[in-house]
Amino acid sequence: MGLDKHGDEMFVERRGLIGAFMHSLRRGRDRLRAARRGRRSYKQRFSRLASLLAAIFLFCLVAVGLNMFLHGKTEGGTSSAHPVKVADAVKEADAVKEANSVQEANIGSDIGKKPTTKHRKQHLPCEINLSDSVDDLVEPGSFMNFMQFSLHYIEMEENNFSIPRFGGHQTLGERENSFHAISQKLHCGFVKGPARFPGTGFDLDEKDRIYMNSCKVVVSSCIFGSSDFLRRPTSKRITEYSKKNVCFVMFVDEETLSTLSSEGNIPDDRGNIGLWKIVVVKNLPYEDMRRTGKVPKFLSHRLFPSSRYSIWIDSKMRLNTDPMLIIEYFLWRSKSEYAISNHYDRHCVWEEVLQNKRLNKYNHTAIDEQFLFYQSDGLTKFDPTDPNTPLPSYVPEGSFIVRAHTPMSNLFSCLWFNEVDRFTSRDQLSFAYTYLKLRRLNPDRHFYLRMFKDCERRAIVKLFHHRELPVPASP
Ligand SMILES: *[C@@H]1O[C@H](CO)[C@@H](O)[C@H](O)[C@H]1NC(C)=O
Ligand SMILES: *[C@@H]1O[C@H](CO)[C@@H](O)[C@H](O)[C@H]1NC(C)=O
Ligand SMILES: *[C@@H]1O[C@H](CO)[C@@H](O)[C@H](O)[C@H]1NC(C)=O
Repeated sequence: MGLDKHGDEMFVERRGLIGAFMHSLRRGRDRLRAARRGRRSYKQRFSRLASLLAAIFLFCLVAVGLNMFLHGKTEGGTSSAHPVKVADAVKEADAVKEANSVQEANIGSDIGKKPTTKHRKQHLPCEINLSDSVDDLVEPGSFMNFMQFSLHYIEMEENNFSIPRFGGHQTLGERENSFHAISQKLHCGFVKGPARFPGTGFDLDEKDRIYMNSCKVVVSSCIFGSSDFLRRPTSKRITEYSKKNVCFVMFVDEETLSTLSSEGNIPDDRGNIGLWKIVVVKNLPYEDMRRTGKVPKFLSHRLFPSSRYSIWIDSKMRLNTDPMLIIEYFLWRSKSEYAISNHYDRHCVWEEVLQNKRLNKYNHTAIDEQFLFYQSDGLTKFDPTDPNTPLPSYVPEGSFIVRAHTPMSNLFSCLWFNEVDRFTSRDQLSFAYTYLKLRRLNPDRHFYLRMFKDCERRAIVKLFHHRELPVPASP
């Protein structure tokens, strides 16, 4: 395969590659899973087992109760995230109670909650037509010919009246100007103050920085505040080519590193745990861990300045597909420079606001402030009947993002990050607004954003719940 345009060394043709890796299937997966579980405490194991049994029981009950909702195909329900053939299964829309927003693959998962018989919905992966192997993938010759302009980033801010912030002190006027898709210098995180002030955080080891500077294609994720288990990419599904040429970087804070270590996940001599290169971030820029997580999520073009492509994957998911196949499928094939999935359930920001409040996801006043601001600046409701609607949904599921690091894509990433920095860290609230405003202010400059279906996301990753917060041992 090759990215022919720039002839990057890493993309030189490799014929020895065997596509068989791509086809290797579940064998050994259970073994792997068992091994990993073994590392967790007996208590966790027991409670997982109990949940599993409860889930199976509940699942059977519900399946019967709904008169075989799944058209009798219950064998699909054994926690597999493989592409499963489902007739016209994954219909989006229509509300299910959600809570943790994901279900572990196909198991109905409202365990422990009041069972609702109405509106129970399965979220299944759909079959996606990935290429068979990475051997003959070639970046389309004209692929990077998207809108050209150059972005520069504010590195240092003289501000004598307040302490430096990682996101800087962007004025509303600067914010407005930053939406123009032209060569400009804008805020995009990593802003420092004058030397007399302390740094603004997200400090990295120099060796890690050098490594990150060398990456051309990146898969990245993060765990801050021990909020999740470490889920290694399914090694069998990752080609030798990608193992050699793609950087897999997991950002963690020191707390998470010590939690992982205490569970037996200790980085090897190269700083790796499995395929993940563990990069420790010191001095987190925000108290809110979720907001800190937006730094690697949105700013991969800044963290990996030489990279041409990046894939973001939330720590609640395990990567089950080769990254080059993902890039080919989500970007090259449709000539897109940015790809993100829609939400499996909600499409309108109004609904998303309600849901965020209902689940107490964030300070309600802050949500209202943000939402009112957006409405006063042109945010409208999603209209599914409008054939010219600029997006298939106004609510994204941002746990998986595929990006080419083009100017327009990088600009969008900075703008979206700045919203999360200025307002709430709930990025689903700012996605559509940011996209629509970017489009509105640049009617002649196209941004090739592809919003794909949530079921496509499910076909390439395996979903888990976030780690539950540690519960003190009961007496
Ligand atoms: C799958 O994609 C390939 C191109 O990558 C195309 O030739 C083929 O027809 C597609 N198959 C289906 C079933 O869509
Ligand atoms: C901030 O203070 C420094 C030193 O007192 C001065 O040189 C600089 O011009 C001031 N900057 C601004 C933006 O006022
Ligand atoms: C909630 O947000 C508002 C507005 O941003 C702020 O004034 C208030 O202090 C916040 N409340 C809490 C409990 O953090």
